[in-house]
Amino acid sequence: MQPTRPGECIDKGPLISEIDFTPFKMQVSTDRYHSRRFHERERERLWMRVWQVAGRADDIPEAGDWMEYRIFDQSFVLVRGKDAVVRGFVNACRHRGNALCAGKGRAARFTCPYHNWSYGLDGKLLAVAKPDFDGSVEEFVGDKDALGLVEVPVECFAGFVFLNPDRNAAPLSDFLGEVAELLAPYRLEEMVPVGLNVRESLDCNWKVVMDAFQEGYHIQGVHPELIPAMDESKERYGFFGDHSVATGPFGAANLEDFGPEQQADSIRSLPATFPGVVEVLPRFEALLDTYRDPAGKLSFPPGVTGRQLLQQATRDTLTAKGLDVSGLTDVQMSDNHFHLVFPNLFMTIRAGEATIIISMPHEDGDPNRCYWHVIALMWLPPEQRRLQRAAQLDIAEGDHFTYFLALEQDWEMMQRQQNGLRNSGLEFMSLTRQEVRLAYYHSVLDSWVDSKAKA
Ligand code: FES
Ligand SMILES: [Fe+2]
Repeated sequence: MQPTRPGECIDKGPLISEIDFTPFKMQVSTDRYHSRRFHERERERLWMRVWQVAGRADDIPEAGDWMEYRIFDQSFVLVRGKDAVVRGFVNACRHRGNALCAGKGRAARFTCPYHNWSYGLDGKLLAVAKPDFDGSVEEFVGDKDALGLVEVPVECFAGFVFLNPDRNAAPLSDFLGEVAELLAPYRLEEMVPVGLNVRESLDCNWKVVMDAFQEGYHIQGVHPELIPAMDESKERYGFFGDHSVATGPFGAANLEDFGPEQQADSIRSLPATFPGVVEVLPRFEALLDTYRDPAGKLSFPPGVTGRQLLQQATRDTLTAKGLDVSGLTDVQMSDNHFHLVFPNLFMTIRAGEATIIISMPHEDGDPNRCYWHVIALMWLPPEQRRLQRAAQLDIAEGDHFTYFLALEQDWEMMQRQQNGLRNSGLEFMSLTRQEVRLAYYHSVLDSWVDSKAKA
């Protein structure tokens, strides 16, 4: 029986020419990138209420492993309990509010260094020091059971730990909606950071980063080397609640005009940008060889393309490696799918691999600055995951990590864009139809920032 493939709805999604633009606002105000007033509204109405990624679940794999998550001036501690469940707490002692911890670590319990109150991994108040008092704990402090750490909603999905600062938030599944079903067949929760896991500050607003990855329009100006491997004219789109997706057809450029060898070359040409393609090249070459004549000349019969052979090679290679790809479509074997999980989780996903970009406001409160966290995830068999997992690298303020070419190009352009956007004389940006996702994204943002009712 054919397995369910939720990706089919994206395979059949609209092309840009098929989208009804009537509801889209193609002018976007620019104060959202630099105004402190807007930044403060965003803090209150978006960040303090929205589900957001606080880390990867395998950052804290064992009972007692904990990590701090900070957003603006707010701090939370995420900890894996003895029951393997990850919980989140406001990082403040219930006595007089001292911060319990900073950074990450492993603990059997949390002991506040100020007056030595201690808490279990489930947040319960375990013990209260009372060196000069002979009576009971209840006489000393009152109802101990009511003095556990303040818990906030935390849920794991796709290997990410999501946290919501709003204690009354609806479940994560309500927020993700159909996106959860679309992402499930990729098995992101079984992927680990390999090679790239870097967090660095940038001189631009956090949304400049999200914008840059939601359109392929800048490929011609910024990433000319990607032109042969991408065909923006065949991008398909999907809009799901607050979230959206676009496809990036791979190796399809000018197929009608490209001969078989050229098609194969465009697939081989970007090993650093698409490391997952490198892995499937041996199988790809073997499939190509079946279409060579004795002299080695390659020719495809009608209906066969390099892109199709890449899809077959990817399915064969990943299946042999142990990843069940039966829930993924052929298009998902070859083409990047660019997912945006609102507000700040961007994922470029192909079967077996994903590049993650998370951006967030800078702790210093300056709307002109942010952090990005770039993670290259790869699916590996279980026994290799811990061994090959790249630890997170935090880049010091003022330093810069050198990424692969396309990210270096984006890194430079995003900060340059902020220098223009921060000019108060420019009131709005004018989007093209190829930037339809930005129009959608900013409407969603407006619905959070403008409406108190949204939860
Ligand atoms: S503030 Fe934590 S024990 Fe006093
Ligand atoms: Fe880019």
